[in-house]
Amino acid sequence: MMDGWIHNTFGLQVQAAQLLEYRTEAELLDYLAKGMVKAPFLHVGAGSNLLFINERYEGTVLHSQIKGMEVTAENDQEVCLRVGAGEVWDDFVAYCVQQNWYGAENLSLIPGEVGASAVQNIGAYGVEVKDLIMAVETIDVNGQKRVFQPAECAYAYRDSIFKRPEMKRYFVTYVHYRLSKVEHLKLDYGTIRKELPDDVPVTLPLVRQTIINIRQRKLPDPKVLGNAGSFFTNPMVSREKWQQLLAAYPDMPYYEVDAARVKIPAGWMIEHCGWKGKALGPAAVHDKQALVLVNLGGASGADIVALSEAVCQAVLNKFGIEIHPEVNFIE
Ligand code: EPU
Repeated sequence: MMDGWIHNTFGLQVQAAQLLEYRTEAELLDYLAKGMVKAPFLHVGAGSNLLFINERYEGTVLHSQIKGMEVTAENDQEVCLRVGAGEVWDDFVAYCVQQNWYGAENLSLIPGEVGASAVQNIGAYGVEVKDLIMAVETIDVNGQKRVFQPAECAYAYRDSIFKRPEMKRYFVTYVHYRLSKVEHLKLDYGTIRKELPDDVPVTLPLVRQTIINIRQRKLPDPKVLGNAGSFFTNPMVSREKWQQLLAAYPDMPYYEVDAARVKIPAGWMIEHCGWKGKALGPAAVHDKQALVLVNLGGASGADIVALSEAVCQAVLNKFGIEIHPEVNFIE
């Protein structure tokens, strides 16, 4: 236990009244039994999707350091793993690629930890982590263990039951994933195919490296420029609205969702509002990917909120579409 700084990739200086880290379920249960976790409390991962509005969090911040990747079942086709919530997500992806297990490679280099992957339903390049999740083990604030099956997790685009306020009392301890031993690559999203060299066989390590290259080109390294990845979700609009927009912007990119809805890239709209690369005080819209807001140095949470509001307003004025933060705002 310590009076500590909360790690966050925006590079904001934020202190918690109490910071509790635990390496095992027993250690967490011990904190709970001793009554050390009182409201308000907040469970964090690597802080790669959080925006702290204030410079202090007046409560308890919990962070899992539970490690381990254990095979629980396998056959010729598939392998199931139980992975500690405190494992770095990309270490898990790298391990799967090294073992020649398919499924996680498109999610290479996503910042954050395993526990948060199951809360946030991280996704990229046509894959969402819900496609791999078999079960989510939790311990609640009263020390009760509960395992959630995928159907109970209400997975949707960057969303799950664990994001609901009343579910913040469940702390993820382990996530169970299922990977495939049989070749199963998803290469149809965006520019993946175009970026793969066409003179060599497409292997798992090559796909991982290609995804890493695309991400490194567009997304700023938080160690250099504070950021939390995509700041906004891509909004879904009705087909009617999409048709109107296409008439005005025939080159507009979009993704099919279902019979009624289409997803429009918020980054494209922000760029068309003229915000790409622009700053408001010490916060700015990234110059290579307009969906990302960055801390130019010394920004406060309030500076980033001010920029985010200005960007949302600009998109609303120009396109008549509301965009919403993907990043979780913490009071
Ligand atoms: N675009 C622009 N200008 C920009 C940014 C994007 O015109 O400044 C256009 C691109 O040219 C492309 C389209 O918008 O036609 C989509 O861009 P991109 O493929 O870069 O993806 P995105 O919509 O910006 C989403 C995810 C990312 C994920 C990528 C790839 C969300 C909120 N973001 O971004 O996830 O890596 O697709 O699958 O869904 C994250 O969640 O933190 C994240 C980085």
